[in-house]
Amino acid sequence: MNFKLRVWRQHDSEEKGKFVEYQATNITADMSFLEMMDLVNLGLVRKGEDPIAFDHDCREGICGTCGMFINGRAHGPLKGVATCQLYMRSFTDGETITLEPWRAKAFPVIKDLVVDRSAFDRIMQAGGYVSVDTGGVPDANSIPIPKADAEAAMDAAACIGCGACVAACKNSSAMLFVSAKVSHLALLPQGQTERKERVRRMVARMDAEGFGNCSNTYACEAECPKEISVVNIARLNREFLRAIVA
Ligand code: SF4
Ligand code: FES
Repeated sequence: MNFKLRVWRQHDSEEKGKFVEYQATNITADMSFLEMMDLVNLGLVRKGEDPIAFDHDCREGICGTCGMFINGRAHGPLKGVATCQLYMRSFTDGETITLEPWRAKAFPVIKDLVVDRSAFDRIMQAGGYVSVDTGGVPDANSIPIPKADAEAAMDAAACIGCGACVAACKNSSAMLFVSAKVSHLALLPQGQTERKERVRRMVARMDAEGFGNCSNTYACEAECPKEISVVNIARLNREFLRAIVA
């Protein structure tokens, strides 16, 4: 398979940036999307050119670093997968593929397709710690958790912090990310001690980082590789309200 790539090249956050075209040749359908990118970069390095910068680490949908827009979709054309879980069989031979970084004020471009998502780290830091009882280990069945709560908490905990929700939202809102992080602890006994303080601080940090308001379009849920539900945003709003009035 052969592809034409239109790649956003931008030296740093100060430079304007532009699309540059590259050829991706001799690609097999079973190659992952990032392996295709590796091959293109190998060709650029051999020609003495600057390789395309893109973020990646685990390459198995866990770390959340590999996000980019592929043909205008966050993480590409498939639902429920991160960029690193895409394979070239999802594209048509001869297709032009357009690659862009996340575009959001709170995620400045570091280089090419790599953006600075440290705003998410600062929101997590604002959430603080979880108190633990350092006494004897309690029997698991002494702190029963309703199955529905455990499952909802686990679903929320699946968020990998990739930022696709922010990039997909026309307001660059981080509500889905923050709601997932708030929900997974608010639903469990372990998260109760700092529950109110946590949501107050995380929302304040989210606002301070320049993320916008929820657009109510559900674009975040549609593009989330972990299919985090907007139900969590409703829970975040309830948690926040409870924390500021109580
Ligand atoms: S909610 Fe989904 S899209 Fe947003 S950071 Fe978490 S995994 Fe990524
Ligand atoms: S490289 Fe880790 S989620 Fe894609």
